[in-house]
Amino acid sequence: MPTLLLIDDNPSVLKALSILFSLQDYRVLTAEDPEAGLAKLANDEVDLVIQDMNFAADTTSGAEGEALFRSIRARHPDLPVILLTAWTHLDAAVQLVKAGAADYLSKPWDDRRLTASVQNLLELGQVQRELTQRVQADQAQRRALERQFDLRGYVWADPLTERVLNLACQVARADVPVLIRGPNGAGKEGIAAIIQANSAVKTGPMITLNCGALPAELIEAELFGADAGAYTGASKAREGKFEAADGGTLFLDEIGNLPLAGQMKLLRVLETGRFERLGSNRERQVRVRVISATNADLPAMIKRGQFREDLYYRLNLIEIQLPALCERPRDILPLARHFLRADQVLSESAEQALRQYPWPGNVRELKNAITRASLLARDITITAEDLHLPAREPVVASVPRDDLEPDREAIETAIARHSGVIAQAAAELGLSRQALYRRMDRLGIGRAP
Ligand SMILES: Nc1ncnc2c1ncn2[C@@H]1O[C@H](COP(=O)(O)OP(=O)(O)OP(=O)(O)O)[C@@H](O)[C@H]1O
Ligand SMILES: [Mg+2]
Repeated sequence: MPTLLLIDDNPSVLKALSILFSLQDYRVLTAEDPEAGLAKLANDEVDLVIQDMNFAADTTSGAEGEALFRSIRARHPDLPVILLTAWTHLDAAVQLVKAGAADYLSKPWDDRRLTASVQNLLELGQVQRELTQRVQADQAQRRALERQFDLRGYVWADPLTERVLNLACQVARADVPVLIRGPNGAGKEGIAAIIQANSAVKTGPMITLNCGALPAELIEAELFGADAGAYTGASKAREGKFEAADGGTLFLDEIGNLPLAGQMKLLRVLETGRFERLGSNRERQVRVRVISATNADLPAMIKRGQFREDLYYRLNLIEIQLPALCERPRDILPLARHFLRADQVLSESAEQALRQYPWPGNVRELKNAITRASLLARDITITAEDLHLPAREPVVASVPRDDLEPDREAIETAIARHSGVIAQAAAELGLSRQALYRRMDRLGIGRAP
């Protein structure tokens, strides 16, 4: 049962309101002056306050009510408050309620409107509390992840990315191959580094081979090494990446580019830890954790006979899907700020442009755009123009803003339909209460007594 605290110096007002709300299953507390009211608030669980604006019999300025309201706000920023005010002080009351979860009604009040306002504000308060709780729970989860694991400075804010990081950290300790899939520039290499840093072999070497950066005929020699004379130009014996990574991690980037012969050998190392250098019969044994990454559609390559199915199932025992940057939009601004110089900031227009751009090149493209803007901007504030993002075709024809906003008639009709309860009228119009108040001010719509 929600608890209401009534603060009014007039005993008959307290009595009338007590009866009204007790009948509706509220618990009601009362206080006859601001001090007693604040004391009750400090000692009891209160869900909503209804307060008068004048307390001493000979004052009508509303100053005491205003001071009380501010004291309540200072102690309980989210507690809903309803101001009961004489018509002459409506202006001051309107200014006050703009500050947050609050409403005002003129005396003498209308029972129906007061009841509706109480219900509205309690619901609003509930939503607000749930939101706060969710934010706090998110932050706690983030701190737990940061405390428990080495995240190598990976920047993120989006829940989708957090899921990826959680999975990467969970699988890091197990000695199984991990395949990281995701589009170009999305941050796959960073995920590989996190897996390595939290693995049982984190003190061992971390060796990277980009299978896309070498001609097919050299990849095998890179991976497995070669004896002198194994191929044209191989004048000396050389160690391959597998040997270099012994006791540590081998990161095979762009695994989709590994030729079929190399794929077969790789499969064998993954199964047995054994391989031979090119041109050699001597079998070598290593212990290597393999992490691979690709932006290729491996299942499609399997269908075309370009990738071995058995290798695929070996590699993707654990598969981590890193979504494109546009699918985890909450990462965009934190990443952008991360790439800026410490003394630089983003203007509002720049933030909006960054959020709206689809980032086909993902984090790499974002990093390049910010680095370029950061170097060329003349001011410490980076604007949308500094970013030089390619323009996009607007998806919908633009509608003049004013046509989207409710006009005087719509607002007055909505307020009348909801007996003057602003929260309900605002909900019907699809506006926040604050936005509706602003619009009313602009159109000079007063509130009926
Ligand atoms: N979450 C992140 N926090 C900080 N830097 C990031 C993050 N994600 C990506 N980067 C940076 O963006 C750039 C591209 O990331 P990365 O090389 O890991 O992408 P990739 O998925 O491996 O791309 P490709 O498929 O082209 O190899 C790198 O400079 C990397 O440091
Ligand atoms: Mg990469």
